[in-house]
Amino acid sequence: MKSAKVKPFLKWAGGKSQLLEQLQHYLPTTLKKGNIKTYVEPFLGGGSVFFALSQQFKFEKVYLSDINKDLVLTYQVVQQHLEALLELLTTYQTTYNQTPQAERNKLYLSVRELFNQQRFGINYNEIGEKEIERASHFIFLNKTCFNGLFRLNAKGGFNVPYGKYKKASILDEANLRAVSRSLQNVEIVHGDYSACLDKVDAQSFVYFDPPYRPISSTANFTTYTGKKFGDEEQTQLAQFFRSLDKDKGAMLMLSNSDPTHENPQDTFFQEIYEGYKFMKVSAGRAINCDGKKRGKITELLILNYNYGL
Ligand SMILES: C[S@@+](CC[C@H](N)C(=O)[O-])C[C@H]1O[C@@H](n2cnc3c(N)ncnc32)[C@H](O)[C@@H]1O
Repeated sequence: MKSAKVKPFLKWAGGKSQLLEQLQHYLPTTLKKGNIKTYVEPFLGGGSVFFALSQQFKFEKVYLSDINKDLVLTYQVVQQHLEALLELLTTYQTTYNQTPQAERNKLYLSVRELFNQQRFGINYNEIGEKEIERASHFIFLNKTCFNGLFRLNAKGGFNVPYGKYKKASILDEANLRAVSRSLQNVEIVHGDYSACLDKVDAQSFVYFDPPYRPISSTANFTTYTGKKFGDEEQTQLAQFFRSLDKDKGAMLMLSNSDPTHENPQDTFFQEIYEGYKFMKVSAGRAINCDGKKRGKITELLILNYNYGL
């Protein structure tokens, strides 16, 4: 996973790039022995785990999905309409570079406005010119908005402010070409994680990276698309995990926050994933902005299999 040639083409909250080396350690033995045929990642986001694994292992089938329909559309455009997308991104990169700093906020807001206005005319089932343009807007906004956040208001409008970057890498052609290659023969689907049920069998490895459970009362980032992912949803996901384990016999890995870091009595995950293996990985992030409490935060990895060789 270290010498990655393909890397995520989007900035995405909860990106796993920093955790890859540790995740590597906990991959299933069967995967390392070449006995896994299908890879499934139903909370795709920036896809860092898929991109890393796709360079290391040959899968017969790959199924990627996410509930964010514009994210999924953008992946599909990169997969199927790369040349047209590169052309649009080249124009955006040139325009951004040539726009004086003081006027870039205006440029950003004009693209955001277009993105929001055009949302009603998009056909998410059939990609044409409008959809390719939308993917270019999505990448432009992702690279120039504040922290690469994706946030929608109650009406479904994208409302993240400009990120004030001196330089923005809107067009990374070499990486987009590599990404597009790695997405060939991959099924990329918009929808809820539970739709992967039919794709999973005993020769599948599934990596779940759901929105994290907030670790403190002050952190409440559980929504990416306006839909809540609270304790009830975490519990339903654990039931789904259990059914894939029991009924399908698949290899399952799941990431989440570690509440015991702040509150040792908080055994929420130990309860809903009772009977599975719990690993702690160091996320390399500061625990919160309070200087006194700063320290490396740990995250949970929950497994239903034996790891290592
Ligand atoms: C923590 S992020 C994944 C980060 C990703 N592993 C990466 O490296 O960038 C969680 C993702 O789950 C998606 N999501 C939220 N609820 C979902 C659901 N019910 N079904 C499928 N995807 C969902 C969000 O849109 C978001 O992209």
